[in-house]
Amino acid sequence: MATTTRMFCFVLVMVLMGCCCSAKIYKVGDSKGWTTAKHGSYYEWAKRKEFQVGDSLMFEYDGNVNDVTQVSSRLEYQFCNSLSPKAVYNTGHDVVTLTEPGYHFFITSNRSQCVAGHKLVVFVVHDHPMIPPPPPPRKILPLGKDYKVGDSNEWRVPVLTYTKSDFYSKWSEEKQFHVGDNLLFYYNDQVDDLLEINSDLEFKSYDTTSPVAVHNAGQDLIRLTKPGIRYFITSKIGHCEAGFKLRVVVRPLSKSVPKKMQLSPFDHLIKWLHDSFTPHPHH
Ligand SMILES: *[C@@H]1O[C@H](CO)[C@@H](O)[C@H](O)[C@H]1NC(C)=O
Repeated sequence: MATTTRMFCFVLVMVLMGCCCSAKIYKVGDSKGWTTAKHGSYYEWAKRKEFQVGDSLMFEYDGNVNDVTQVSSRLEYQFCNSLSPKAVYNTGHDVVTLTEPGYHFFITSNRSQCVAGHKLVVFVVHDHPMIPPPPPPRKILPLGKDYKVGDSNEWRVPVLTYTKSDFYSKWSEEKQFHVGDNLLFYYNDQVDDLLEINSDLEFKSYDTTSPVAVHNAGQDLIRLTKPGIRYFITSKIGHCEAGFKLRVVVRPLSKSVPKKMQLSPFDHLIKWLHDSFTPHPHH
């Protein structure tokens, strides 16, 4: 199972590389190719490169004199032991793809050459950064308006007594809130707090027992992220009864809606809410 998964990942890696990230091909030794028998020369060549799974090494050399012998261990590399190689290439023009992370050891089976320093070790980094993690799902909201709740009254028991009972409902109904807008609540955190609740029923009955959010910083920004209705009250006993609660209808993003359009179900809902919320004069 794990092997299958790994194979799948590997195949996926190769496919993605093929299509978008272009695996690199490195010509070993650059212009000199795979010919140099001098200690440290291939170390110098390799040390500033970052090899990644899927990259390839290209060996150019005279196949009559050298070959590319890939060995498995550092010891074989160190002692030029080509007796049990992992792979041998000898065309004089070999491309070896680095399919696994970790160390890869290459020597020539021409022993005198190898001992003189004709060998290469490369380190292939483990996690190829070529599969970019999928970007986190981001809700791109337009920059909406900021509304300071209650305006100069802010978020506290309305002071103007004659509007007390419907101060916040009036404040809310005069506006059209849309997705992306913000509500700014300012209040004295020693006196008041801000609770968001879930339902119209809770709102009507001043039910503070199961809020969806509790704020008490004295300065809270509430982002309106989706259409619907948001309910805000305070847990301070007695305050709600004085009209100290807010219901906000959040409309979908405002697109240039044709004016003669019929009422959508959402508009019907808003109209219904508005009608049921506004006290009707008695006849
Ligand atoms: C090893 O390399 C040397 C120097 O290039 C060359 O003269 C010699 O023929 C090579 N030996 C073999 C067995 O290929």
